[in-house]
Amino acid sequence: MAKPFRIGMIGYGFMGKAHSNAYRKVGNFFDLDFDVQLKAICARTAENAQDFADTWGYESVETDWRRLLERDDIDAVDICVPNNLHKEIALAAADAGKIILCEKPLAMNTVEGEEMCQAVERAGIANMVWYNYRRVPAVTFAKKLIDEGKLGKIFHYRANFLQDWTISEELPQGGNALWRLDVAAAGSGVTGDLLAHCIDTAIWLNGGIADVNAMTETFVKERMHNLTGKVEPVGIDDACTFMCHFKNESLGLFESTRYARGHKALYTLEINGEHASLKWDLHDLHRLDLFDHQDEGTVRGWRSIHVTDGEHPYMDRWWVPGLQIGYEHTFVHQVADFLQDYAAGNPATPSFRDALETQKVCDAVLSSAQSRQWTDVQ
Ligand SMILES: NC(=O)c1ccc[n+]([C@@H]2O[C@H](COP(=O)([O-])OP(=O)(O)OC[C@H]3O[C@@H](n4cnc5c(N)ncnc54)[C@H](O)[C@@H]3O)[C@@H](O)[C@H]2O)c1
Repeated sequence: MAKPFRIGMIGYGFMGKAHSNAYRKVGNFFDLDFDVQLKAICARTAENAQDFADTWGYESVETDWRRLLERDDIDAVDICVPNNLHKEIALAAADAGKIILCEKPLAMNTVEGEEMCQAVERAGIANMVWYNYRRVPAVTFAKKLIDEGKLGKIFHYRANFLQDWTISEELPQGGNALWRLDVAAAGSGVTGDLLAHCIDTAIWLNGGIADVNAMTETFVKERMHNLTGKVEPVGIDDACTFMCHFKNESLGLFESTRYARGHKALYTLEINGEHASLKWDLHDLHRLDLFDHQDEGTVRGWRSIHVTDGEHPYMDRWWVPGLQIGYEHTFVHQVADFLQDYAAGNPATPSFRDALETQKVCDAVLSSAQSRQWTDVQ
């Protein structure tokens, strides 16, 4: 008989939906020791919370996350709110002894993140951060190939995350839909929002980053603020480019912007090793491109692997070979992995402590951009 795993979710926006969808599906596709139950959704407005609860099947609503943490029918708290609320909620949730699943970036900065790590470690509770791109089957497969030594020594790691939705000067900052443009709510711009994903994947695939040299730009310097009604300075980075040394001596090059006209969410990565290279592209997420120098010379070339075979990571859980899955499945995989690890008594990945490594790189990137100096990752 499966044990209940009772979720209390805080925030019902983009990630609230992605996670709710994953909780509802995971038990249908993965064999689990737990029965995931959607106990409560927390939002500031009761009516909105109730609408969401009705749509997604939550049993109850709360309008204050503190009240949610007091409930003894909640095992795990899922933090799906803007970045400036992660720390306060996580510290209180740790105090209340709740399991914590927290959205990325872990915190506004490393100091906050370290406090959060210490809180969950002190409380001895399971914890995880939703760096979901690790669970794209093609990316998980890339990890397997790298770990098996298929690439040999790695020389280069390159990643981009390009969008184009903030080009208009008329776009305001702050408030519900636009908190990402408000430094007080987001902590940073593309660095914490988009590059954090690229950095997490990079550390996972290629190991730690030693130092960075970055530049950032804020193309639109003032925007109307939705909360104050006044035109205010923009404090986030609109674009960020950095180079780095990985600890394994390979070189990294990362770029992110919300000003690349024509690109909506183009996350791409390429890794060049001694024996082989790999390429991946979020717009075509079920494919992994491989160039293997050990192939016979006359037919050597880039091949595009359709990562949909039953032998590929996670794919035995879905349809038949050749039929692909998408973005939402990465969250299903992350919940499944979390629950399997939890059942086995293993730590979840990425944990708060793992995600702190990404936070440290983000802080070093922002600091380097300001000082215009190479900066060690602390
Ligand atoms: N893993 C990913 O790929 C990914 C993608 C998008 C966002 N995120 C992260 O998820 C988090 C949320 O982002 P989003 O895109 O879902 O934002 P969103 O704006 O769509 O939703 C945020 C939600 O938080 C709610 N909220 C704000 N203050 C609250 C409070 N005090 N109490 C209760 N609810 C409150 C809002 O009402 C809204 O429902 C952020 O940390 C973001 O960086 C991660």
